[in-house]
Amino acid sequence: MKQTKIAVLVSGGGTNLQALLDAQAAGTLHRGRIVLVISDRPGAFALKRAEKSGVPGLEISKKACGGQAAFEQKLTEALEDHGADLIILAGFLSILSADFTRAWDHRILNIHPSLIPSFCGAGFYGLKVHEAALARGVKVTGATVHYVNEIPDGGEIIAQKAVEILPGDTPEILQRRVMEQAEWILLPQAAETVSALLADR
Ligand code: GRF
Repeated sequence: MKQTKIAVLVSGGGTNLQALLDAQAAGTLHRGRIVLVISDRPGAFALKRAEKSGVPGLEISKKACGGQAAFEQKLTEALEDHGADLIILAGFLSILSADFTRAWDHRILNIHPSLIPSFCGAGFYGLKVHEAALARGVKVTGATVHYVNEIPDGGEIIAQKAVEILPGDTPEILQRRVMEQAEWILLPQAAETVSALLADR
């Protein structure tokens, strides 16, 4: 059965990458196969996770490339070299241009740690998202998987999962709960669904 080749782009610890790798090992992600991990931050722990699972890992940073155009050219070369059909942004912090996202229309997924349209867009990433949710006093938050377009966190929503905010939550406690109860469940499920869509079209 045809599989979709997946490239996962990361910047940090890679817990969402790990969820994808674990799903692949467990067979719950089987219409897609992770063929490449790219970090825009040298030495990101996510690259160690890739290495441990035998997945090729690359470091491609805008700084090292000397600008956005060269960065995206390098990304494109690596993606093409590995035959990637689908890109998954898993804690990836670099901005991708409208030209790049247009070239990969409906072939880039992102996981965002809130229920979009709340607490999303420019400046909302990592702990900042959970700090904003706690500051606003919302009782429910969660995670969203969406297609990526030229608007930060603005693409079509694919899946969402709600998570309760509890009294005494700190941003760190809330981030962990959203990861465990939403992100690490949603992302592999969405990866499998979209991989099947692309493989069967
Ligand atoms: C976390 O804030 C997560 O909520 C978001 O990206 C950040 C890093 O995640 N999706 P990871 O552990 O590198 O996957």
